[in-house]
Amino acid sequence: MEVIVTQNAQDMSLTAARVVAKVLNTKPNAVLGLATGSTPLGLYQELVRMHQDEGLDFSQVTTFNLDEYVGLTRKHPQSYHYFMYENLFKHINIPKQNIFIPSGTTDNYEAFCQWYEQRIVECGGIDLQILGIGSDGHIAFNEPSSSLGSRTRIKTLAKQTIDDNARFFDAPEQVPIYAITMGVGTILEARRLLLLANGVNKAAAIAATIEGPVTSMITASALQLHRNAMVIVDRDAASQLKMLDYYEWIQAKMPDAP
Ligand code: PGA
Repeated sequence: MEVIVTQNAQDMSLTAARVVAKVLNTKPNAVLGLATGSTPLGLYQELVRMHQDEGLDFSQVTTFNLDEYVGLTRKHPQSYHYFMYENLFKHINIPKQNIFIPSGTTDNYEAFCQWYEQRIVECGGIDLQILGIGSDGHIAFNEPSSSLGSRTRIKTLAKQTIDDNARFFDAPEQVPIYAITMGVGTILEARRLLLLANGVNKAAAIAATIEGPVTSMITASALQLHRNAMVIVDRDAASQLKMLDYYEWIQAKMPDAP
C-alpha cells in the first residue's frame, strides 16, 4: 500500500485531485468510483476548480457512487444523490446518463443491487475508486463484520456510524438505519483504490487499516489485499502509524527511486 502523509486536510485534497486529474488526462473516458461524507469535499472542490480554470474534462467520464441511505429520496438534503449533485455534478460537464448512484427508494433492492453490479461490469469496471473511512474502520457502509467478499447489498448501519453521521441531521433519530452499499468485494475489483482520511478521530482506524491484520472487523484493512491501493492522510490521521518515519522516508526518496 502506498501511504502519502500530507500536512493538512487541504493538502490531502489537492494531492488526491492531482491523482484523479492524472487518471482523466490519461484516460478521458475513465470510470470513477465516488464517495460522500466530509472527507472528499475538498477533493470535489478542487476538481470543480480544475474543470472551471484548467478545462479538466468530464464529458466522457462515468461515475459510480459507493452508497446511499435507504428511504431518502434524491431530493432529500442528506441523501447522497443530493450531496453529489450539489458538491460536484452540477458544477462539471459530466453527462447525466453517465452518473450512477445506488437508489435509496427502489421497490426491489435485490434486483437493483444485481443491476448495479452488472452496470459496473458493462461500463468496463472502475478505474479509480475514491474512499473515505469511518471511525469504525468501514469503507462505504461495510460495517465491522462485513464479509471481505461482499457485493452491493443492504446493510444495517452500526451505532457508531449513526452517531458519527447524526451531525448532518436535525436529530439522531432521523439518521436512516439502513443503507445500500457496494460490498468490499465490489470495491476490491476497482483497478486503483484511493483512500482519504483526515483528523485525529480517524487515526486509530487508519493505523488498523495500514498496519493491523486484514480483518472484516476493519473493512478498510482489505486494501492490504489490493495491488494498487494508495492512502492519503493528513498528519492528524497519520498520528498513530508506527511506521510513519518510513512512509515519509519513502516519499522523500521517491523522486530518485529507480
Ligand atoms: P466522513 O465519513 O468523511 O464524513 O468522515 C467517512 C465515512 O464514514 O466513510
